[in-house]
Amino acid sequence: DLILPMFFADGLTEPREITSMPGVYQHTGDSLLRAVHEALDAGVRCVDLFGVPVDADKDADGSQAWNPEGVLNRALAAVREEFGDDLLVMADTCLDEFTDHGHCGVVTTDRHGVAVVDNDATLPLYQQMAVAQARAGAHIVSPSGMMDGQVAAIRAALDEEGFQDVAIMAYSAKYASAFFGPFREAVGSSLQGDRRTYQQDPANLRESLLEVELDIAEGADFVMVKPALPYLDVLTRVAEMSPVPVAAYQVSGEYAMIQAAGRNGWVDTEAVMMESLISIKRAGANQILTYFATEAARKLNNG
Ligand code: PBG
Repeated sequence: DLILPMFFADGLTEPREITSMPGVYQHTGDSLLRAVHEALDAGVRCVDLFGVPVDADKDADGSQAWNPEGVLNRALAAVREEFGDDLLVMADTCLDEFTDHGHCGVVTTDRHGVAVVDNDATLPLYQQMAVAQARAGAHIVSPSGMMDGQVAAIRAALDEEGFQDVAIMAYSAKYASAFFGPFREAVGSSLQGDRRTYQQDPANLRESLLEVELDIAEGADFVMVKPALPYLDVLTRVAEMSPVPVAAYQVSGEYAMIQAAGRNGWVDTEAVMMESLISIKRAGANQILTYFATEAARKLNNG
């Protein structure tokens, strides 16, 4: 039930701890495999990999995303080779780490001269990316860019290439959230501005239910609500209506707040970690993506 998001970065000689996420690292190849071993030993059965390219490898389309030698595809291949089917390898399927503008899709200029993300021009790039990730060894791809039609497009491309068994975890109700703040450091994001034209409005519940319905109709094997704790009402509503498993993502800002308060001696970190995860579970999550996965699994398995 616990999925560990992890970061693999190019250009490092040693793992680099993310300042605002104590205990979370940008990994080198060696430290990544060590950390996956630790997670598996603790009882975590799925990891979600993000790639952090050097700036020189970023471009307008994010083309390293489908290069077999791109940072994320190398990480997927290394983890799959090391672990086979002992644990599930999930890939983040989004361009934002790979584009020089930091957006999740192709940026064009609309008829008023305003820079906008072009939904439909982005879909073929997601298709290439998902296929490259499946080739590298991902068991699950997870489109997180909130483009309309991304699940159907990726499903069709995977099937066409013979990857019928690669599953899709759809970020369905992903809000334009300030709780993603520390993640921007974690992936060395180049983003200026925000993602409000393609992520959900925090005030809107109804639209998220529609997004979930669409993703299920397009072939999502799991749907996700993100962030988790501030959106438990959304999670419960989605869990009530979804015929497929529902995941929730306890995001970087949620993790950072717990760690910061714990480090100040203001809360008991471990107790708050467990209580937050139990709350997310109680609200209806089947899977929880959390930077606490290894620690929480270890604690659960020690009784
Ligand atoms: C973008 C992506 C983001 C996160 C996961 N995938 C950031 C964003 O949408 O701005 C956030 C994860 C976190 O905050 O822990 N592909």
